[in-house]
Amino acid sequence: MNKKDQIKAIRGMNDVLPADSSMWLYVEDTCAKILALYGYRQIRTPIIESTQLFSRSIGDETDVVAKEMYTFEDRNGDSLSLRPEGTASCVRAGIENGLFYNQQQRLWYIGEMFRHERPQKGRYRQFNQIGAECYGWSTPDIEAELLSVIDQIFKELGLKKTHLQINSLGDVDTRKRYREALLDYLTQKQDQLDSDSVRRLSTNPLRILDSKNNDVQAVLKDAPSILDFLSESSANSFNQLKSYLDELGITYQINPRLVRGLDYYNDTVFEWVNEDFGAQSAVCGGGRYDSMVEQLGGVETPGFGFAMGLERLIQILYEQSASVIDSVEKEQLADVFIISVGEKARCQALLIQQILVANDVQVQLYCGTGSMKNQFKRADKSDASVALIIGEEEAESGTAGIKLLTAQNKQTSTQQTILQNDVLNAVTNLLESL
Ligand code: HAM
Repeated sequence: MNKKDQIKAIRGMNDVLPADSSMWLYVEDTCAKILALYGYRQIRTPIIESTQLFSRSIGDETDVVAKEMYTFEDRNGDSLSLRPEGTASCVRAGIENGLFYNQQQRLWYIGEMFRHERPQKGRYRQFNQIGAECYGWSTPDIEAELLSVIDQIFKELGLKKTHLQINSLGDVDTRKRYREALLDYLTQKQDQLDSDSVRRLSTNPLRILDSKNNDVQAVLKDAPSILDFLSESSANSFNQLKSYLDELGITYQINPRLVRGLDYYNDTVFEWVNEDFGAQSAVCGGGRYDSMVEQLGGVETPGFGFAMGLERLIQILYEQSASVIDSVEKEQLADVFIISVGEKARCQALLIQQILVANDVQVQLYCGTGSMKNQFKRADKSDASVALIIGEEEAESGTAGIKLLTAQNKQTSTQQTILQNDVLNAVTNLLESL
């Protein structure tokens, strides 16, 4: 086949190769363990949903819905979209399955999300998130709990230089009054804004606060702060959260310009931002969304949640943390390597592999044709500590050779002969003695 005809992965969509998958598993297991310790239960929702689910919850004017969704018509003519995030799906599933009736829920999820963004380091078109969503609490204690979950995860992973930023967007009335004040201020400075920000003046002025353009950021320096517009209850709630975080020793920065790219938030919003990661520095983001459940047809239920981007998190860990990589990469692929020559021996080797694996011993079997010498070479290259050898003679007599492969024992270790019936005992004793 011509090289240019070779089929490639879609731009912005990555393979995770075996060299990296142990790191992924390590991060996923760490998150799952900590979430379970805090009493969160996993929910799994489909990757494809009705387009309306996202336009009604995330907001038509957001970049995610207006420009980035993978939307298509299915064979029935229904408009479907690949999920760009997990929160709306959790709410849909919760309403549909009655999870919000007289119940509180602590849920978590993991999975692929899709956004048609311009790919660059840390920004992909298919990416993975681990997220958690809590339903039924309007108080800031649940917010402190969830931020504590994230803090624990980052601590356990050894993530450094990643800081929490928080803000409050207040209630509907707060945002209405703030929007007017911000519009007043920015309209006077319209000539100093870029075209994107000018367009947002009429669609969603709060999103201008999030502009990456330095000139726009300079204009925003003297803009009014949303924190001066909070209602009494929003301000009280935000203050209470801050004092919980102080108690917990979780450091944070108050960033009154943190507005998030999705429209469903009220009151507390937050992001964990990495110092060294350039433009795509947000590792994790989330906040409170008290009206989404009702907006999607459910009973009024407050929501609070987060999602972290696994590609970004793992990339930062690789760049930062030699100790994490060491502990992950030392993972062994095999305790035992089985060498066998001849059909009868191969059949016995398969059976021994089955017995050992059923007893939690990792076994690599030499498959294919190969001389005893070549198989030994392969065994030496593997990370197994023990070799089992079944040649034609051993196969006939129901025995096997057993030999240590570890570097320090290689010279001194001689091959012993054991009965195949005793293999499990012999292997476990030998492995325990190392
Ligand atoms: P988000 O801020 O859009 O929030 O995404 C959360 C995280 O996903 C980001 O901080 C980033 O690490 C990662 N992420 C987002 N887009 C990309 C991309 N194109 N490539 C790689 N990583 C990306 C949400 O998705 C909300 N659902 C969070 C939430 C949960 N709010 C309440 N509950």
